[in-house]
Amino acid sequence: MKVLLGVTGGIAAYKAGDLIRMLVRAGHHVRCCLTDAGSRFITPLTLATLSGEPCFGANPEYHEWRPNPRVEHVDLARWADILAVVPATADIIGKTANGLADDLLSTLLLAAECKVLWAPAMNRAMWGHPAVQKNIAVLLGYEHHVVYPASGVLACGEEGTGKLASVEEVFEAIGALGSAPLKQFTGKRVMVTAGPTHEDLDPVRTLTNRSTGRMGIEMSRAFRDAGAAVHLILGGELPAPWGIDTIRVRSAEEMLNACLALWPDMDGVCAAAAVADQRPERFEPQKVKKQDAPETVVLLRTPDILAALSNARTHQWMLGFAAESENLVQNATEKLSKKGLNAILLNDISQGKGFGDHDNCLIPITRNGPGGALGPVPKNQLAREAVAWFANHLEINPLKD
Ligand code: C5P
Repeated sequence: MKVLLGVTGGIAAYKAGDLIRMLVRAGHHVRCCLTDAGSRFITPLTLATLSGEPCFGANPEYHEWRPNPRVEHVDLARWADILAVVPATADIIGKTANGLADDLLSTLLLAAECKVLWAPAMNRAMWGHPAVQKNIAVLLGYEHHVVYPASGVLACGEEGTGKLASVEEVFEAIGALGSAPLKQFTGKRVMVTAGPTHEDLDPVRTLTNRSTGRMGIEMSRAFRDAGAAVHLILGGELPAPWGIDTIRVRSAEEMLNACLALWPDMDGVCAAAAVADQRPERFEPQKVKKQDAPETVVLLRTPDILAALSNARTHQWMLGFAAESENLVQNATEKLSKKGLNAILLNDISQGKGFGDHDNCLIPITRNGPGGALGPVPKNQLAREAVAWFANHLEINPLKD
């Protein structure tokens, strides 16, 4: 992908160097456009050296970097598949939102017809200012994309929201915007459940399982990159991925309620959550004291989320997971038909595989039987393979004749 990176005048400009390295290593072709203010924080030579390309910009001192004297802002804008401004100051955001173009980068931003991504970074009061927020809303209205700033200690010493998002997140956003969509999922609304649930006994004790949520998060990324608008209902501690509307939940019941609220507007669900099957009968509001005598906890079944969605389904497709340790295909096939799923992805967890691992492997099953195994490969690649496989099996009717 051809990435045009606008670098503007904030202290986070030095992080553009790391981003360029990541992009170049991933095989992207990067060119940089540096503003005058940006050149006080990082030099054109740094950007040119890391990208392996001339550094463009308004500063006459580095005009010598121009490869040719053509209509630079138009040529460069047409060259790019994506224009990412990292870091983006309040100034460049304000200029573009208001149609101002007084240097190469701001001119490029108006001339661009490609995707545009902003990674703002500024003081927390500046970021919170209604003028900046209004300008961001204007840019979103132009179908530009934003990697929102993170919270923490800022360069000025104040604490709050305004730090440049992590370079990894910006890298992910660029990759997601450049990915090739699948026609089956383009513009579709897909709900993904992921992670463990926690069923609390008292304020400090909980029933849960060893799922991290990694596989479900990778499924949400794979559907996003296939062109879907993804809603992730997430248990556990892992961070939410970029560009995915995420609702955090704790218990199975919270997950169920979040899913049911979204369900009528969805085109399908991918249920990768490892929902705890039992919850304590009562939640004790105070920490339970230890006793000498043996103690008993009465456990009740949690709601089966997929079964509830199946009951409320109108037109949606349903993709489930089955973590099995014995009679693998038989057990997974039973779940497929009992829950009325279009397909189920069987995860062999015998010998401790699957949960928490980096690599994983899945056997996809429809009512026509199992398909060829996917993996073992890292979970991000496996998720992409599973989504591509599912795109080709969406049409299989989940219900028996
Ligand atoms: O019945 P079992 O838990 O093995 O089924 C696995 C599939 O059902 C997974 O897709 C899981 O996310 C989903 N599930 C659910 N609600 C539950 C239990 C499992 O949606 N309470």
